[in-house]
Amino acid sequence: LPPADAAAGSALPASGLGLVHRPRRNRKTDWARRLVRESTLTVDDLIWPVFVIDGERRREPVASMPGVERLSVDEVVRAAVRAAELGIPVLSLFPYTEASLRDPHGSEALRDTNLVCRACRAIKAEVPELGLLTDVALDPYTSHGHDGLMDGHRIVNDPSVRVLVEQALVQARAGADIIAPSDMMDGRVGAIRAGLDAEGFEDVQIMSYAAKYASAFYGPFRDAIGTSAALIGDKKTYQMDPCNGAEALREVELDLREGADMVMVKPGLPYLDIVQRVKAHFGVPTFAYQVSGEYAMIRAAADNGWLDGDRAMVESLVAFKRAGADGIMTYFAPQVAEKLSGRR
Ligand code: PBG
Repeated sequence: LPPADAAAGSALPASGLGLVHRPRRNRKTDWARRLVRESTLTVDDLIWPVFVIDGERRREPVASMPGVERLSVDEVVRAAVRAAELGIPVLSLFPYTEASLRDPHGSEALRDTNLVCRACRAIKAEVPELGLLTDVALDPYTSHGHDGLMDGHRIVNDPSVRVLVEQALVQARAGADIIAPSDMMDGRVGAIRAGLDAEGFEDVQIMSYAAKYASAFYGPFRDAIGTSAALIGDKKTYQMDPCNGAEALREVELDLREGADMVMVKPGLPYLDIVQRVKAHFGVPTFAYQVSGEYAMIRAAADNGWLDGDRAMVESLVAFKRAGADGIMTYFAPQVAEKLSGRR
């Protein structure tokens, strides 16, 4: 840096402070601010999560996520068309499974007639150029609401992984482009990679939820997919302890060694330090999931008139880019894409 400011600490000269450094110069106009801008948010950064429900021409609001709806497969296809028009690269699918279809084994996850598989096939038929991401975990399909299989009160790892591999294969056969294991069982990425390769799906990508925390911010999501009432206990024996950071790096390292193409940190804003460390440490494609509770907080405050919703939305998403994320899974995807394209 050039020498310290000459007049620092002295009485004010008539002409001013005699400052050498005036950081405000670079902020004086819109063009100057744009010129020095370090991070930008574009539509290419977005993954849009949508909730799928049975039926036709059906759109059902999610009470705890104002502005988000569960969509029947035909409506999901319309959402996919909209995503493609807006330039959103990827849609991710989460099913609301009827209670009658849930059992302790999550059997519905392995049926190619399940909502996610039907939605994949319908979207691929209409909008083949859109990327499709599917979540691998049993919780939308189990009567106990856990991501894996239970033996008494334990969530058993290795038997769960065997089922998750089958779930991934069912999704790949239905046309999923990116398999996203969100279950946090040990060794599932390697097992899924091997399973996909053995069936000729070596081009199907894996985005692992590598550092997924046992978080209170998933509340509205569990409401959206109808598992909040069902969940027995909590997910602390497989999702990470919110107090840990170094452990996230070990989780990411394992998933990368097992063949993950991209990694995800989840939730988002409360774990921005983890996003930054993962990107800095490994330099791999790193994504953040701005989860349901984060969305709900911003929407609730905006709907109450307590903050400017559009600005808070963009600011929260730019924060991920500043931290080093390559992209963000966010329920704001269509809104922010419209805003970035100047349509709203
Ligand atoms: C399921 C899954 C969860 C989310 C995505 N996949 C919930 C959970 O682990 O209980 C949460 C997403 C959100 O809150 O938006 N394995």
